[in-house]
Amino acid sequence: MTWMWDGTSNISSISDADTNGSGVVLAAEPIHPIPLTQDLDEEKVALGERLFHEPKLSINDTISCATCHLLDKGGTDGLGTSLGMQGSNTGLNSPTVFNSGFHWRLNWDGSAATLEEQADGPVAAAKEMGGMSWEDVIDKLKRSTDYVSAFNRAYDDGVTGDNIKDAISIFQRSLYTPNAPFDRYLRGDENAISDDAKAGYNLFKSYGCITCHQGMLVGGNMFQKVGIFGDYFADRGNVIKSDLGRYNVTQDDSDRHVFKVPSLRNITRTAPYFHDGNPKTLDEAIKLMGQYQLGVDLPQEDVDLIMQFLITLTGEYQGKPV
Ligand code: HEC
Ligand code: HEC
Repeated sequence: MTWMWDGTSNISSISDADTNGSGVVLAAEPIHPIPLTQDLDEEKVALGERLFHEPKLSINDTISCATCHLLDKGGTDGLGTSLGMQGSNTGLNSPTVFNSGFHWRLNWDGSAATLEEQADGPVAAAKEMGGMSWEDVIDKLKRSTDYVSAFNRAYDDGVTGDNIKDAISIFQRSLYTPNAPFDRYLRGDENAISDDAKAGYNLFKSYGCITCHQGMLVGGNMFQKVGIFGDYFADRGNVIKSDLGRYNVTQDDSDRHVFKVPSLRNITRTAPYFHDGNPKTLDEAIKLMGQYQLGVDLPQEDVDLIMQFLITLTGEYQGKPV
């Protein structure tokens, strides 16, 4: 099933089960609710959860995926740019792993097509987990009889690189966050969000934020240039390679400063913002978006209302707010 916005109000990808049984979804809205359930193999989710928190995936047993993606910090690390092996700066803000299973591409520059492919990156990167091959990881995990039996229970062929990636990816697919107040509103509960949040949502649409941040994740389904109205990078200064975004993948000049539009789900939980961690607050991020993506100087009143809308995008993980 794909979740790409096709420019219409097509919600054919939403099943009856997703409507809370009410059968009601505000069909014409350009944002869709996150499904309430996902069918995932529990054994693999549990193994993947363990691997996600496993420092043996790094060269000196010091760094796990969870070092930079803390589940109690909205799936990020709260830093401007993430620090990996022995404090090396990755030069990029760690995106949340919540709802990563629904993204159309992974990473700020969209360099990975799937979660499985994405997992190769941090393990192999010298600056992140120290530059490990899957063979190195397999050797370490095989020394634990506990891991060997857990893999044998979950997979016919035991501990392999593909199975490690598969389990971690299935765990990440379990990190979906349904039932946000805004989703309850979309499913027909008029009182799930305040009048201010509704006004903020209308502004989000009328200013045009929605042209880039839409679909189920309120983002995560297209690439866009950062700095359409004005040179964000010149104004910020200190331009580094990772600021080139998608250009680093395609070497195509038209991809300079092009990034995957990030999801705004659980956005109040994942400061600081942008690929560079430059805006420290959501207030600042919203104003910069107005300025550089829409060419408008948003009045504080409107920023506040948009914020009230964004707050309603915080969903639940395992039944509790993210
Ligand atoms: C040193 C910190 C660090 C570690 C360790 C790390 N990550 Fe990340 N993660 C990042 C950063 C920074 C990015 C953005 C990378 C990019 O855009 O190229 C990222 C991107 C991601 C994404 C893409 C999210 C999106 O919205 O596009 C996923 C999924 C992810 N990491 C999962 C993992 C997994 C799984 C592991 C362990 C195997 C891991 N990360 C280890 C910092 C880290
Ligand atoms: C032309 C496309 C476009 C428009 C219009 C747009 N955005 Fe964005 N938005 C982006 C991109 C691309 C990024 C990533 C910026 C970066 O990483 O440097 C982003 C990032 C953000 C972030 C930070 C997300 C994060 O995880 O760091 C917020 C919040 C945000 N936008 C809100 C808004 C609001 C509110 C509006 C309307 C006032 C808006 N955006 C309009 C494309 C757009």
